[in-house]
Amino acid sequence: MDEHIDRARLTHDLHYRFEYLAKFLNFTKDDILVLNSLAPTIFAHIKFITEKIYDKLYSYDVIKKYFLLRNDDFESFSSNELDTSTTVSSIQTDFRKDMLSMYLKKIFVQTEWNDIFLQYLSQIGEIHTESDHTVSTNVDYIHVNMLFGYLEHLLIDIIWNEACLDDTKKRLGIRAINKVFRIQNDFFTMHYGMTIRQDTHSVAPSKNQRKCFFKSE
Ligand code: HEM
Repeated sequence: MDEHIDRARLTHDLHYRFEYLAKFLNFTKDDILVLNSLAPTIFAHIKFITEKIYDKLYSYDVIKKYFLLRNDDFESFSSNELDTSTTVSSIQTDFRKDMLSMYLKKIFVQTEWNDIFLQYLSQIGEIHTESDHTVSTNVDYIHVNMLFGYLEHLLIDIIWNEACLDDTKKRLGIRAINKVFRIQNDFFTMHYGMTIRQDTHSVAPSKNQRKCFFKSE
């Protein structure tokens, strides 16, 4: 028999939403154990990962502008540094790298994905959206999606190239990471209002939605 999922509840009950995602993806305690066991491997590369991520983020003006905007919020922090309109201060960058490291570490050491942790993951999504009410972190989703792909590739390469892990562990690790970022991505898109349409009646696309954006009239 079909399992009932309450569509409305998905929009306002984070725990329920997570349970649905976890069930669908088969994200279980075993995945969490795999992530925990990979923590030492990933931790050894955290610096490398955060460097690569910020090199990537700062290599496009369309992305870098968010961090330049963010410079203004950091005035007190960076008062000793020479900031120009195109450089992001190294103090801020180090601070951001630290935040990203903490986030990644949490994912690998978390032993129980309880409501506090789910709230944390949800907040990380929310701060990048309009609902956070901060212009500098009101990030267009296109970049977020790309960064998820890039981050996942970095992690997969690290696991794949780790000589002390056997093939089973590598496979399980890569699968667990994929599940985690599907869930985290959902916790971003839900704040972007992209996951569940407002109208509750029809699941069929409306006339307008059927239009292809790339097709000329
Ligand atoms: C894979 C997707 C992403 C993840 C997992 C992620 C993660 C994070 C984390 C953990 C923080 C720190 C939050 C806190 O504790 O305050 C943060 C802040 C931030 N993120 Fe992201 N992020 C992602 C994508 C992006 C993208 C694509 C951009 C830019 C286009 C961006 C711009 C920012 C900005 C401007 C901040 C605030 C930094 C500050 O306070 O100076 N993020 N992000």
